[in-house]
Amino acid sequence: MAGYIVEDTKKITTQKVLQMKKDGKKIAMLTCYDYTTAQIVDQAGVDIVLVGDSASNVMAGNATTLPITIDQMIYHARSVARGVKRAMVVCDMPFGTYQVSREDGIRNAVRMMAESGVDALKLEGGEEIIDTVRGIINAGIPVVGHLGLTPQSIYKFGGYGVRAKEDAEAEKLIRDARLLEEAGCFAIVLEKIPAGLSKKVCRNLTIPVIGIGAGSADGQVLVIQDMLGMNVSFKPKFLRQYAQLNDVMTDAIGQYVTDVKSGDFPNEEESY
Ligand code: KIV
Repeated sequence: MAGYIVEDTKKITTQKVLQMKKDGKKIAMLTCYDYTTAQIVDQAGVDIVLVGDSASNVMAGNATTLPITIDQMIYHARSVARGVKRAMVVCDMPFGTYQVSREDGIRNAVRMMAESGVDALKLEGGEEIIDTVRGIINAGIPVVGHLGLTPQSIYKFGGYGVRAKEDAEAEKLIRDARLLEEAGCFAIVLEKIPAGLSKKVCRNLTIPVIGIGAGSADGQVLVIQDMLGMNVSFKPKFLRQYAQLNDVMTDAIGQYVTDVKSGDFPNEEESY
């Protein structure tokens, strides 16, 4: 266990992330939404902590990422930023905060950075939002792109299936990835696309490509509740579960309930 605790606490910067790709070092990214978990994730050596808008699903129980608000994302992001010393913290711009206009996107991005204390923001989309991405980067804010299955567009896609299987969508994705790199993004997330396409994008770009359900890439990202096995009903092909926390937590909480009801807890040593 102690072997996983990271001793080098020097902060991960955008320059370091770019250097990792140059050096052929893989990037470990993981989502997180609260202070206590952020401390554990950081100590375990995760390079980039993503305050994903998947908080809408896993923290709030919504069916999609669309309902989460900018205030709720700032609350999660600020909590995570307080718990992290070494990792870079990236926060998703939620649905509706950057799609309306470039000005609106820049204003919301500036607010999110100023109020949350994170290091960078992530936006979903390519050509459609490229002027906004440029404007946010010109404002001094590092940006991560996100292509492929972009969950904020789930109603346009009509489901969570693999994206860019057809040539036209794959070619657009390659063009979008190049545009995002040219606009100044320092990394791109590719979600749920064929592994061959992801490899092609990795080869074409100098910035790191971080995959989720996209085969091998310059790095990987997963939702922490999924990889810890907290949600038993969610087990897509791309997910590797590193623990069965649902079982561990259910057993522990069940034992607590038994002990309270039997009068075994608290005992004398646990009393003042
Ligand atoms: O919100 C999120 O968790 C994400 C990852 C799935 C990449 O965007």
